[in-house]
Amino acid sequence: MDEGAALPRPFAVPDERLLRLAEEYGTPVYAYSRESMTRTVQALQEGMPRVDFFYSLKANPNVHICRALNRCGAKAEVSSAGELTVALEAGVDGRDIIFVGPAKTREELDLAIRSGVYAIVAESVGEILAIEDLAKHIGVEAVRLLLRINTSEEPDATEIMVGGPSRFGFDQECVAAEVGELDLDRCRLAGIQVYSASQVLDAGWLVAHMETVVSLAVDLSCEMGFDLECVDFGGGYGVPYTEQESPLDVANLFDGAAAVFAKWSDKLGSVRLIVELGRYLVAESGVLLVRVLRVKESRGKRFLITDGGLPCFTRPAFMHTSHPIRAVGVRPGAVPNYFEVCGRTCTPLDLLGSDVPLPDVDEGDLLAVHKAGAYGFSMSMLNFMSFDWPAEVMLTAEGSQLIRPRQPYQSVISVQLP
Ligand SMILES: Cc1ncc(COP(=O)(O)O)c(C=O)c1O
Repeated sequence: MDEGAALPRPFAVPDERLLRLAEEYGTPVYAYSRESMTRTVQALQEGMPRVDFFYSLKANPNVHICRALNRCGAKAEVSSAGELTVALEAGVDGRDIIFVGPAKTREELDLAIRSGVYAIVAESVGEILAIEDLAKHIGVEAVRLLLRINTSEEPDATEIMVGGPSRFGFDQECVAAEVGELDLDRCRLAGIQVYSASQVLDAGWLVAHMETVVSLAVDLSCEMGFDLECVDFGGGYGVPYTEQESPLDVANLFDGAAAVFAKWSDKLGSVRLIVELGRYLVAESGVLLVRVLRVKESRGKRFLITDGGLPCFTRPAFMHTSHPIRAVGVRPGAVPNYFEVCGRTCTPLDLLGSDVPLPDVDEGDLLAVHKAGAYGFSMSMLNFMSFDWPAEVMLTAEGSQLIRPRQPYQSVISVQLP
């Protein structure tokens, strides 16, 4: 395997282009590199040809991003009627969509069944009964189900979804008894899904997870008496946000996955193998551009107050993490200054980065917050303090395409009483 080809290429766009972009579309603005995200998908497909990669729209539900990823082979994992609608609108075939989520509404299940999704990932007995009832009502013969399992794994990650009591899925030790006693007519058990954690950077753990999930799927299909059609390993591949974090060792991941699939080849045959990824497919392909509005000094600290921050980017405050921040088009001085880079809302939580080394930045300068392609726009507090919503732009070899226009504050405030 060519290791270089397997690594996602981080966002690398010349400063002049970013400066022009900020002029043209205003700030704050998200910019995504289509080449970078499609290359990431292709590298994964080459490294794990046996796997179907599904894009988790929650990371970034922009329809143009979903379409770009789908065109190079990524399918779609959705968790709401809105995301399902986006995926269909992006051109994803219903047979390449799975619907996941701990409490889907009747309307969402109805839409999923009518759209002919490949599978619904069932997370409780109540949900299976609702699907059974709806399928009869709609007149659908069979709905394929994957059972989400809450295993006893202990991932080394920030956001862990398995191990203890959980709202997600069936407890591993109870699933056979709980689901086994149901009298299913329209629901067809076809496999399992185990989404264990997000932001996992340990390839060894991800390989061990694959082994755990395949083995569990084979055991449950025997014990519960269903034909194994699909194994969904969840997702959670991480990206390094800070210098203390190392990138996922994809070469090890690919080799380890191949070994697991070879070991289980007699059981896996034509079984569909799924990995659902959000962050890994888009995080490093996106940047948030913000403009410095004020430079202030207070008690030994220098503050850059920008037009970005919580309303368009909550990750640093919400996840207590930092993103690489860079001054665009500002020549580095001999010695960097250290800045508190923040937004302009009225809360000290509104911090994009603390002690950020930057050259001598001035009011009006442009900053790039990197690795902002995932859980950026989609996880923002867009209405906080009634600012404009940021625009989103796709960068292509041919130029740039506006993929979500800026929403001026006039269009998002509601001043007319009924
Ligand atoms: C069920 C499910 N699948 C996929 C994802 C995507 O995770 P990530 O962005 O870490 O790959 C999530 C994230 O929470 C999830 O809950």
